[in-house]
Amino acid sequence: MVHFLICSLVLWCYTARARIWNNTATGSIIFEEAVSLPNLRPNAGNPPPGVTQAQLLANLEDVHVQRLAYMDQAGVDYMVLSCASPCVQGVSDPVEAETLATGANNDLAALISNNTLRFGAFAALAMHNATAAGIELRRAVTQLGFLGALVNDYQQSGADNGKTYLPDPQYDAFWSVVEELDVPVYFHPRSAIAQVIALDYFHSTWIEGAPHQFAVMLSNHIVGLCANGVFDRFPKLKVIVGHLGERIPSDFWRIDEMLARKVGTGMPMNKTFSSYWKTNIYETTSGNFATDLLDFHTSQIGAGQILYSVDYPFVMMEQGQEWVEGLQMGPLEKWNFIKGNAIQLLGLDR
Ligand SMILES: *[C@@H]1O[C@H](CO)[C@@H](O)[C@H](O)[C@H]1NC(C)=O
Ligand SMILES: *[C@@H]1O[C@H](CO)[C@@H](O)[C@H](O)[C@H]1NC(C)=O
Ligand SMILES: *[C@@H]1O[C@H](CO)[C@@H](O)[C@H](O)[C@H]1NC(C)=O
Ligand SMILES: *[C@@H]1O[C@H](CO)[C@@H](O)[C@H](O)[C@H]1NC(C)=O
Repeated sequence: MVHFLICSLVLWCYTARARIWNNTATGSIIFEEAVSLPNLRPNAGNPPPGVTQAQLLANLEDVHVQRLAYMDQAGVDYMVLSCASPCVQGVSDPVEAETLATGANNDLAALISNNTLRFGAFAALAMHNATAAGIELRRAVTQLGFLGALVNDYQQSGADNGKTYLPDPQYDAFWSVVEELDVPVYFHPRSAIAQVIALDYFHSTWIEGAPHQFAVMLSNHIVGLCANGVFDRFPKLKVIVGHLGERIPSDFWRIDEMLARKVGTGMPMNKTFSSYWKTNIYETTSGNFATDLLDFHTSQIGAGQILYSVDYPFVMMEQGQEWVEGLQMGPLEKWNFIKGNAIQLLGLDR
């Protein structure tokens, strides 16, 4: 009883209950890492060099054997798993999507329950109903110990598999829960629906998916979050964008310049577009180990907003480790990049 009273009053109780994970001096934390779950056939895409399509699928489904062996070899202390794209965002029916999300989160929690020293998870969410999405996120964080959510771009919906985007004010009910829980939401790309492929990708089907279409479509979504004032209404939100920010920080000058011309047209964004990338938006290096770009983005948004991740099994952890080892950074800078920033952003220290 005394312990309970002290616990509810002072901070050290937080420390006492803090998450226990495999925190070595030099290891990394990576968190755009996909897992495939029963009922959710991912769009497996193309395997990395030296990996067959069958191995890629096996790697997606495995957690405790091959994946863990690669983690040990590549010095990965801790990995946050998420359901492989498009996951629930590919389910048009709202009831089916909600059932699938709850089941996926329970399955993922059970799958990693015997090794939370090495694995954490982001929740899968049905984004048909903002209130329901907030309820499931709260359950995943407070009851399953999840570290946030990962959404695969837009929610496919309706009889025509149309698209729903999160900047819509109907999602404010969701964002208020995210802000209250103080967890990040990762925005991951997804495959295009048939109508979009027919209009925009018929001329060159090779550019669908990771080579180009992922970044084009997801960057629409992210720029829209800013322009539609989501970060003005919820100034403490934390959003993560992979693949070195889906190219957006490379284009700040032009986006800032051209959006400034829309001020006074009813646009609810109250700050400069690029400013949200210093306060609310974080980017990871998943599947984009471009050193020049990393340096340029660091100059644009600051080292505190950029975090290491791999995109396993579409990219191999070994390739990431080789790249990290060759980066010209001081020891503290490198530690922050591969781990320190992630401890803060994911709340692993609380
Ligand atoms: C912690 O992670 C390192 C990789 O950084 C690994 O070699 C080590 O075996 C892990 N320790 C435990 C107890 O899992
Ligand atoms: C967790 O369970 C899986 C599946 O039974 C098993 O392969 C793995 O070795 C277990 N891990 C630990 C750390 O006990
Ligand atoms: C959205 O979900 C909430 C909470 O489950 C529910 O009360 C509400 O009726 C749902 N709205 C619609 C339009 O289905
Ligand atoms: C943005 O600015 C407008 C105009 O000054 C103001 O009416 C609105 O409340 C502001 N939005 C937020 C979220 O502060």
